[in-house]
Amino acid sequence: MKKKRALIFGVTGQDGAYLSKFLLNKNYIVFGVKRRSSIINTQRIDDIYEDINYKSNFVLLYGDLTDASSILNLIKKVNPNEIYNLAAQSHVKVSFEVPEYSADVNGLGTLRILEAIRSLNLEKKVKFYQAGTSEMFGKTKSKFQNEKTPFHPVSPYGVSKCFAHWITKNYRDAYGIYACNGILFNHESPIRGETFVTKKIIQGLVRIKQGLQKKLFLGNLYSKRDWGHARDYVEVMWKMLQQNKPDDFVIGTGKTFTIKDFVNKAAKKIKLDIRWTGKGIKEKAINIENKKIIIECRARYFRPLEVDYLKSNALRAKKILKWFPKKSLDNLIDEMIEHELENNND
Ligand code: NAP
Ligand code: GDD
Repeated sequence: MKKKRALIFGVTGQDGAYLSKFLLNKNYIVFGVKRRSSIINTQRIDDIYEDINYKSNFVLLYGDLTDASSILNLIKKVNPNEIYNLAAQSHVKVSFEVPEYSADVNGLGTLRILEAIRSLNLEKKVKFYQAGTSEMFGKTKSKFQNEKTPFHPVSPYGVSKCFAHWITKNYRDAYGIYACNGILFNHESPIRGETFVTKKIIQGLVRIKQGLQKKLFLGNLYSKRDWGHARDYVEVMWKMLQQNKPDDFVIGTGKTFTIKDFVNKAAKKIKLDIRWTGKGIKEKAINIENKKIIIECRARYFRPLEVDYLKSNALRAKKILKWFPKKSLDNLIDEMIEHELENNND
């Protein structure tokens, strides 16, 4: 049987790396789009390149979501069965600093892919996945968020992703493209970017325990997030593209924890005995063993507006896609700690 061809925008990111491996194991030929950078940005996928079983089915190509002609040429050249748009300026806080660029990549970038599909008359041939986000729910008042919960984005990132969501739906309805929006809640892993809070906490606490770092500086400790494992979440991206008809799905664990809960869980596992003291920006954590302050809050890590509370209801995905998250938050933290310890012992 002829192998399916997948084109992944954002292949060098956390999800791109997990999805590439997932699709290669499903016998796809994977074409990954990377952008030019001044230093090598393929660390997360180097092991795929080096793996003799994957090598001949994994191809990297240059492109950029801000460059319409590169997108058109790539799709024409690859002639994919499935396109996964995982590329984004994905940092919420940074989107307040670079709002126009975030809108360009995340919003217009998605439109550029959809327009390329249309220009090449591939509407009935190619399936499209758009990486949507729980950040679109923003200042939600709902106890659980599902596919019917209204969007109320509160960051340039969230707004740009709403544009991407609606334009994907619009092209599905208007031109019959098999296009799906995954509305994914936070998902993490050992290869999570270092400026996202889970990775920053694990990396910081492990280094403090090993005497390699003195303090960890954080922002808002009281926002709540529904954290899953990236490996579980890439599977569902693929599942969305294997149905009889395209649709949008909320994906999450249905459990929510504060940032402080995450710190407490991680510290306990790393065997750092901590005690919290102070309030607001003055809140800090002290290492009980040596009485040293190891966590402090800094204004620069707070956002102009915050998404306070996220908790998914992924019932539709469970029913229709038969998708269930396999890893708990505890499993995730264990895996992230183990990876960090291995890394620091190299
Ligand atoms: P990530 O690690 O930040 O990866 C983002 C990817 O996009 C990287 O490969 C990056 O390339 C690429 N990229 C950025 N700007 C680009 C541009 N102008 N042209 C082409 N590629 C560009 O993000 P992730 O955590 O894997 O998330 C994947 C997608 O899911 C993103 O769209 C994100 O917004 C969305 N999402 C993530 C979560 C989550 O919790 N992880 C939840 C919901 C939705 P470089 O490596 O060169 O920077
Ligand atoms: N990054 C960061 N750094 N966040 C901090 C810090 C810190 O030092 N201290 C506290 N936080 C809080 C943030 O204010 C936010 O409420 C929460 O930790 C999570 O922040 P991030 O890990 O940066 O993730 P995010 O929820 O803003 O965005 C991630 O999840 C979205 C899905 O809801 C990203 O992956 C987005 O791309 C994704 O769409």
